[in-house]
Amino acid sequence: MSVNASARQATPPSSSVDWDKLGFTEREVNAHVRVTYKDGQWGKPALHTGTDLNVHYAAPCLNYGQQAFEGIKAFRTKAGSVHIFRPQENFKRINLSASVASMPALTEAVFFDSLKAVVAANLEYVPPYQPNASGGALYIRPLLLATGPRLLLDSPDEFTFVIWVSPVGSLYGSAKAIPAVDGFVLDTFDRTAPMGTGHTKLGGNYAPVFKPTREAKKRGFPITLHLDSATRTYIDEFSTSNALAIKRHGDATTLVVPESTSILRSVTKISVVDIAKKLLGWNVELRPVAFQEVKDKHFDEFLAAGTAAGVTPVRSMSYNTKQPRLVSGGSTEEPHGPRFDFPPDNVVERIDFGDGKTAGEGAKVLFDQLTSYQCGDQEDVFGWLWPA
Ligand code: COI
Repeated sequence: MSVNASARQATPPSSSVDWDKLGFTEREVNAHVRVTYKDGQWGKPALHTGTDLNVHYAAPCLNYGQQAFEGIKAFRTKAGSVHIFRPQENFKRINLSASVASMPALTEAVFFDSLKAVVAANLEYVPPYQPNASGGALYIRPLLLATGPRLLLDSPDEFTFVIWVSPVGSLYGSAKAIPAVDGFVLDTFDRTAPMGTGHTKLGGNYAPVFKPTREAKKRGFPITLHLDSATRTYIDEFSTSNALAIKRHGDATTLVVPESTSILRSVTKISVVDIAKKLLGWNVELRPVAFQEVKDKHFDEFLAAGTAAGVTPVRSMSYNTKQPRLVSGGSTEEPHGPRFDFPPDNVVERIDFGDGKTAGEGAKVLFDQLTSYQCGDQEDVFGWLWPA
């Protein structure tokens, strides 16, 4: 099945969806795609209706977290055509995750034929063209799962590649305006080990952050930042996305990109870096960034970049002023290990960026540039929209 330009233009957004009220949620659509790996090779993608997968209860994806996932977005242009944003990068990244988690690599044919098939089957769920809007995309979720039975700590003989999709709005705030969020440093909890899996998109990197991020959200911090696990000094990434900072000096602007072995190579981040460097003429500094630089007010702006998060300005960062309390291991009496305890207000310090209320100018420019690329309002000089 192929997604040609005329077919994409012929299918307008569904009238059964309230496009102004899209959240970042899952919604049942027409079909998902599945491909099976067995006897040492991938089969052919096939579309399926419904939402359920039939998986053996001894499958390592259920028992040991042997799985990887991706996040990609498709956008509608003013002319009505649909384009997928830089899926080649996600193809590379899912195969990196696959190799770390001992799963077979996807072939280009399997990945891209599946992508075409699932988008073609759900074109009416690609939201209407929305210039300079936050969110408003068909979110595409590829999953690579170890689905054959295997009780031993090892790979099974069978794997399944699935892509499901859902129309989504903004992860943070309103779909109509650029959001600006308050952040919190989760320094009582380590996301991934320094020599671990933080650079891959394995589900196991994400489930442990649900509790601390839920607690932070309840207290008014929708976005949470992780520091490096070895020293809790350097910025790694947000729980949902990569972190970036902006520094202005006179007429010059520098985009500061935290470097770490434990962060995911965000496709949105690398796109924003290209925009900053090649289109806006900004300086780009790629280096380890100590959180102390945020405390010292070294940066004018702070932002998040990710597929779901898009470009999200962070208007403030709060952090513990006391050393985190760590519960040491080794006890046979009760469960042990680090605990996330939200600190009381008197040990939380807040750093504002700009006025601490609204999005900074640099984030606005990056947001406008990125979203105008994604919805085809700018010439695709980088060749980012697929199929072109
Ligand atoms: C994405 O940005 O695609 C992710 O998978 C992050 C997650 C918070 C939804």
